[in-house]
Amino acid sequence: MNKLLSLAAAAALTLTSFTAYAAGGALVPPEMPWPSVGYFGAFDKASLQRGLKVYTEVCSGCHSLRLLSYRDLGDLGYSNAEVKAYAAEYEVLSEPNKDGDRVLIQASSADKFVSPYANEQEARALNSGALPPDLSLIVKARNRGKGNFFANFYDMLRGRGYASGADYVYALMTGYGDPPADVEIAEGMHYNKWFVGNAIAMAQPIYKADPAADGTPGTIEQQAKDIASFLMWASEPRFEERRAMGTKVLLFIALFIIVLYMLKRRVWRDVH
Ligand code: HEC
Repeated sequence: MNKLLSLAAAAALTLTSFTAYAAGGALVPPEMPWPSVGYFGAFDKASLQRGLKVYTEVCSGCHSLRLLSYRDLGDLGYSNAEVKAYAAEYEVLSEPNKDGDRVLIQASSADKFVSPYANEQEARALNSGALPPDLSLIVKARNRGKGNFFANFYDMLRGRGYASGADYVYALMTGYGDPPADVEIAEGMHYNKWFVGNAIAMAQPIYKADPAADGTPGTIEQQAKDIASFLMWASEPRFEERRAMGTKVLLFIALFIIVLYMLKRRVWRDVH
């Protein structure tokens, strides 16, 4: 009985701490209908390609994506030649030559995405002290869930995984605007509704652009959706393969349990 009581107390404590976190934390961005989410979802490759374009033309000026290789872009539907041509726009240090010197050469498909800055100090120096974080895992890092144990568990069950990190990136991109009258924003900072504390060192990165080649409108919202999808893909490029493998494993286990059960009945037939 005592054990039961302490278990109940521990559960109650855990739940209250989750709820307290939700109450004290930042606003939770609205849920977006990402096509890749859910057990039968799939990434929209055209959207990922547009997202790559937003990253290349806007974000890559400040943010690295150092865990992604150029060849990963093959997953977005690009041919080897296209990936090669994309990588060739960037430069990396070669292996040491016979004199021990390393020179700048064109990046190849096997290279990781080249970072805009040589090191953290340079990144900060060029961004008035703020550090633009690497975006490889940003969607997972900002996947704060709903701050409620049951809601998070439910999200996991329906396959939303780390989608709330993408909800956040979308919200952040579209959350700029004038601060409310009673909010003062320091010089060099920018008001953003969804950033913790509301003052972010990053100026609004996305503005209305021309429609994409396929006719998709260049609204801020559309570009924000595309870059958030792209970053969700980038944080787990093997996501679809892993999910497919997981489904197969679960199916196998289910079948195997049936076989084991039949076997058990057969083995014990004479005893019962
Ligand atoms: C001019 C440089 C610059 C550009 C361009 C830029 N950012 Fe940033 N970004 C920053 C800086 C600086 C920070 C750190 C902000 C802070 O800590 O206040 C930041 C922070 C972020 C964060 C983290 C916010 C958080 O919760 O900590 C995300 C996500 C982000 N940027 C996404 C993007 C995306 C997506 C793009 C392209 C559409 C982009 N950024 C373009 C400079 C930039």
